[in-house]
Amino acid sequence: MNLAIIGTQWGDEGKGKIVDLLASNFDIVARYQGGHNAGHTVIIRKDGEDQKFVLHLIPSGITHPASTCVIGNGVVIDPRALLAEIADLKTQGIEVTHKNLLISNRAHLILPYHVALDRRVESHRGNNAVGTTMRGIGPAYEDKMARRGLRAGDLTNVDLLLEKLSRNTKQANNLLTHLGGEPIDENQLLVDGKHWAEMIAPHITDTTYYLNNAAQAGKSILLEGAQATMLDIDHGTYPFVTSSNSTIGGACTGAGVPPSMIETTIGVIKAYTTRVGGGPFPTELHDELGEAIRAKGREYGASTGRPRRCGWFDAVIARYAVMVNGLSALALTKLDVLDDLEEIKICVGYRINGKETDQIPYDAGELEAAEPIYEIWPGWQASTQGIANFDDLPAKAKNYLERLAEISGAPFAFISTGPERNETIIDKELLEKFGLRLSI
Ligand code: IMP
Repeated sequence: MNLAIIGTQWGDEGKGKIVDLLASNFDIVARYQGGHNAGHTVIIRKDGEDQKFVLHLIPSGITHPASTCVIGNGVVIDPRALLAEIADLKTQGIEVTHKNLLISNRAHLILPYHVALDRRVESHRGNNAVGTTMRGIGPAYEDKMARRGLRAGDLTNVDLLLEKLSRNTKQANNLLTHLGGEPIDENQLLVDGKHWAEMIAPHITDTTYYLNNAAQAGKSILLEGAQATMLDIDHGTYPFVTSSNSTIGGACTGAGVPPSMIETTIGVIKAYTTRVGGGPFPTELHDELGEAIRAKGREYGASTGRPRRCGWFDAVIARYAVMVNGLSALALTKLDVLDDLEEIKICVGYRINGKETDQIPYDAGELEAAEPIYEIWPGWQASTQGIANFDDLPAKAKNYLERLAEISGAPFAFISTGPERNETIIDKELLEKFGLRLSI
């Protein structure tokens, strides 16, 4: 059984927790797109104490000793970020080796000039800035599409690596200086390149063959998405998006597996909506309520620490994510953050230029102008924190959840009521229908 986990909104839905919950049931956990712009927080209770892991590039399965983690060809890898993450995990007691972390030789590299270009290009955008994570993600994918990128496989041939690094740094420096930036020190980059090759090469392999052979041999694969549907380069709120396909198609191209291999797709969705960076967000709350949700939900970026913009649940987006990704089920997170509210709104459609619609317009400007049409539901004003049985929820919380599932068009397989593994309501019967017999 192979399963894909996808973000449904603008990221930060809590995919890390859901992947972590599921990971011990899978032989392999694979990332397929994005880079260290992602921040997946996993909290594990060990010997009576919480241990917090923030993963950016390495799949969340790494905390499970039996899992093999794969960074697929669709991911962009900053060698410095990768090595820093491996070192951090080591200080937290997790040894990352060439056995538990395999890296696709086809994955592209993020190099220092990509990071510098990301900053320069963003500052030139002025008021239209995307609000990127400044990690060099966009410029690295640009090089990939322009067919001049360096790939992880280049780290296995040092002579060729240095030749390509030297050539690309010169080209990038031309562009950087043209944009008013400082050129990158080529000599230092060549020294660093040799070091990266030595450290990372043992992990590099052809993960496309690895994953397909493993599936043929009956091993199960969990495909871990980063970012989310509304940040997808094709299907999101372009140009306020990331530079990869974070919808289900990206799982196939970014891991090298056929669609027929992915039997189940679960979308992770927050009980409200958040977004970091620029771009339209129809249900955004600009008042104290938005601030209260941010404070209670600890809505600050796991990667950049930026405060997240907060707003009501948007069912137009939920339905779109169910449609584009063919979601089998949803995993709802952070229900407990809404515990104190007197009333809760659900956006069921938009009014754009006087016309009502239940579809997301393709144009970011039109979505910016969209006025949400709300349903208002009474809040339950009782704690749901840590509840692990649906029947134990307050009646009004159950009503809210039933309406969300109905209007989104997919059932909830998981409802998360706190950051820890056991603070989760799991519909095991539903999961069994998908062939997922979980030992959680
Ligand atoms: P980039 O991926 O750094 O190029 O940023 C493009 C847009 O995607 C910006 O609005 C970022 O804030 C957003 N973004 C990228 N990664 C994440 C994520 O993991 N969570 C939430 N937003 C993200």
